Amino acid sequence: MLGQLLHLHGIDSVIVENRSQPYVIERVRAGVLEQATVDLLHEVGLGERLAREGMRHEGVYLAFNGTRHRINMAELTGGRAITVYGQNEVVKDLIAARVQTARPLHFEVAGVSVRDLEGSHPAIEYTAGGERHQIDCDFVAGCDGFHGVCRTTIPAGHLQLYERTYPFAWLGILANAAPSSEELVYSLHDNGFALFSMRSAQVTRLYLQCAPDEDIHQWPDDRIWAELKTRLRTDDGWGPNEGPITQKAVTPMRSVVAEPMRYRRLFLAGDAAHIVPPTGAKGLNLAVADVWRLSNALAAYYGSRSESLLDDYSDQGLRRTWRAQRFSWWMTSMLHKSASDNPFDHKRQLAELDYVVHSRAAMTSLAENYVGVPLG
Ligand code: DHB
Repeated sequence: MLGQLLHLHGIDSVIVENRSQPYVIERVRAGVLEQATVDLLHEVGLGERLAREGMRHEGVYLAFNGTRHRINMAELTGGRAITVYGQNEVVKDLIAARVQTARPLHFEVAGVSVRDLEGSHPAIEYTAGGERHQIDCDFVAGCDGFHGVCRTTIPAGHLQLYERTYPFAWLGILANAAPSSEELVYSLHDNGFALFSMRSAQVTRLYLQCAPDEDIHQWPDDRIWAELKTRLRTDDGWGPNEGPITQKAVTPMRSVVAEPMRYRRLFLAGDAAHIVPPTGAKGLNLAVADVWRLSNALAAYYGSRSESLLDDYSDQGLRRTWRAQRFSWWMTSMLHKSASDNPFDHKRQLAELDYVVHSRAAMTSLAENYVGVPLG
């Protein structure tokens, strides 16, 4: 996305990626785009397939005590909504756009390192096709995820990490089954959290709260379906449709923020700077907001040598990040069972859900954060 935004500003960039093109296209990840992400994809010329295949949702369900409650997000937020469109589909569209610009995009590079961050010309070194290469840069954008090399290149003492791990994880599946609800269902059950989502009119995406060290081999398909049905089924008879499971994976859950998001000429974006737990689907959207800000700051720098937007990059990003952290933590705590919870905690959790689905003020707060705040 940063490459596309910089291209539209007429700024050169080189993208190096250590995975292969099929890997990044096929790896199933998040799937909920905020309104601002959808608008930006349209603005940068990537809205065509999104408009055709993306599923716009104006509402979302919270389920507990056997009942689904719909929150009408569009009505509460002046017409804003989320769109279900796989992150890997966004990646596919971005790669196609990049290839069309003929600007450099290198897959399957190895041994990436970042050097000379102290001076005015940092460099990136990497190995591709058995040869060592060097890129001389004005700036480095660390969009390389939490386990990437960029953040760890920052010298000790210049970065503070704020972190929280959760005592559970999500077991996620993709199934060839028609979605039985037009909108997502977030459910709290005595057995734990479950989430009903989708990818298309033929594919359902489902998640179950599980242990952080859950062994996926203990979860044959029939056990997964039995547990999903137990946790999702509501008193009106609603539940997910069953179908062949095509993917299974366990996602750990944590919150991390690295401060600041910049060291000299290195700018961290997305998971390199912050991780949110998946409840609330903020991860991809935060990353998009980061690179939108960064592209504007770089455009101002090359346009008028102004560094003020570059200087604001981290503070602005951290404000949005902490807002998303608070929301994701709140959604996570409201909807998951913790071993450390006592019966009081459980009653309080149900009272919170009851408040959210009956108070217009409370549901507006959920809705405005779920559809996402405008960029900028
Ligand atoms: C999906 C993932 C999420 O983390 C979420 O909150 C909602 C939906 C999904 O993969 O569809």
